[in-house]
Amino acid sequence: MNQIDALKFPDGFLWGIATAPTQVEGHISNEWTDFVAQDGSNCRVACDHYHRYAEDVQWLTELGVNAYRMGIEWSRLQSGPYTALNGQELERYIDLLDRLKSSGIEPMVVLHHFSNPPWINSAGGWVNPAAAPMFVDYATKLVSALGDRVRLWNTFNEPDTYASLVYLLGGFPPCHKWRLWSFRKVIAHMAEAHVQVSRFIQQRRTVGVSPEVGIAKNWTFFNPLRCFSPWDHLPAALCHQVFNHYVLNAFLDGPRRAASTFLGLNYYGQVRFKGFQPLVPGSGASRQQLDHLGLVCDDMVERYPAGLGTILRKFHRRYRLPVYITEHGAASQDADFRIRDLSLHLRVLHDAMNEGVAVRGFFYWTLLDCFEWQFGYTKKFGLVTVDFNDPALPRKMTRVGEFYRGICAAPHREAIARS
Ligand code: BGC
Repeated sequence: MNQIDALKFPDGFLWGIATAPTQVEGHISNEWTDFVAQDGSNCRVACDHYHRYAEDVQWLTELGVNAYRMGIEWSRLQSGPYTALNGQELERYIDLLDRLKSSGIEPMVVLHHFSNPPWINSAGGWVNPAAAPMFVDYATKLVSALGDRVRLWNTFNEPDTYASLVYLLGGFPPCHKWRLWSFRKVIAHMAEAHVQVSRFIQQRRTVGVSPEVGIAKNWTFFNPLRCFSPWDHLPAALCHQVFNHYVLNAFLDGPRRAASTFLGLNYYGQVRFKGFQPLVPGSGASRQQLDHLGLVCDDMVERYPAGLGTILRKFHRRYRLPVYITEHGAASQDADFRIRDLSLHLRVLHDAMNEGVAVRGFFYWTLLDCFEWQFGYTKKFGLVTVDFNDPALPRKMTRVGEFYRGICAAPHREAIARS
């Protein structure tokens, strides 16, 4: 028997899976279309979910989830500022939503997940204050068109990741570096757009039950490796200040908090610093070095299950908003590692909920192995694996997927592990 056998989650808890359009759909015209990832790949076909969403809904059904966090791609729906929504593309998403509904799967729709229409980018992207009202125009049109089909709205996915990788770290197109002022502007404009779109969504109570709206904040812990080294503390404190503290304040401080009805948390783990070197795979630290230091990492970051409890309690104390874990997952070819990692995190989640933290759902990242932004197809996060060497892109259930299916299917919302 696995240690999470006895965990009970409340009735109505959402067990879901999350994806993002640029990572799975393919056939998209946004800033990622011409981007070449570190493995030499691109997102032009990705998982071809654009043509195969019906099959992918079958996979969601097979996994037994009752919720699905999906993005809608802005660049498909508006050909220019303030234009009407593209009817054909809208119909496609409506068909997807209707298929989810008939499969008993509740959608959470993400309005912005690291991508923009080309006309936003050519006008200076989110540094330009005009981006905010353009986004608000798009979002309010979309919400009006889909309002009776969607109850859960997620305005921005990880504004901190987006703004830092585009303007500080050079990882996302157009790959600028150290433009702190642009970073601040982007966050300010997104926060303003979030407030306006959220107010609009909250005023629309046509769905019978009240709609819910919030951002998804990526929370990474930044910590020093050596307690007594100021050189380890400095970068950790700086990163925490810029990526966590500053961004949360921009979206949720003071009267802005009222715009959100929930807080989405994307949680993967922690980054420790030795001097200015971040100790994570792919940042100059070798596997041997990380192992030698005793850092347990997936292919992206150090795992820190206890941190999930810490941040949930902190959010609860500070904001008193219900939380959805809008993303959690691990990238590894080692299924046992991922299963263990998921079990550990669910136990911590359960403990925090027992202590009174209101968490309404958990969305595993992600359904399919897919285009992992600057890393291409090398990071394997999928519950269902995709063979990218075969042009037919065949999907296959993984052991992690079977494990998650066991959790979703457990009677009375008990998480029962099968391995
Ligand atoms: C993002 C996803 C990404 C995942 C794994 C999150 O930061 O929202 O798009 O694939 O992390 O890196």
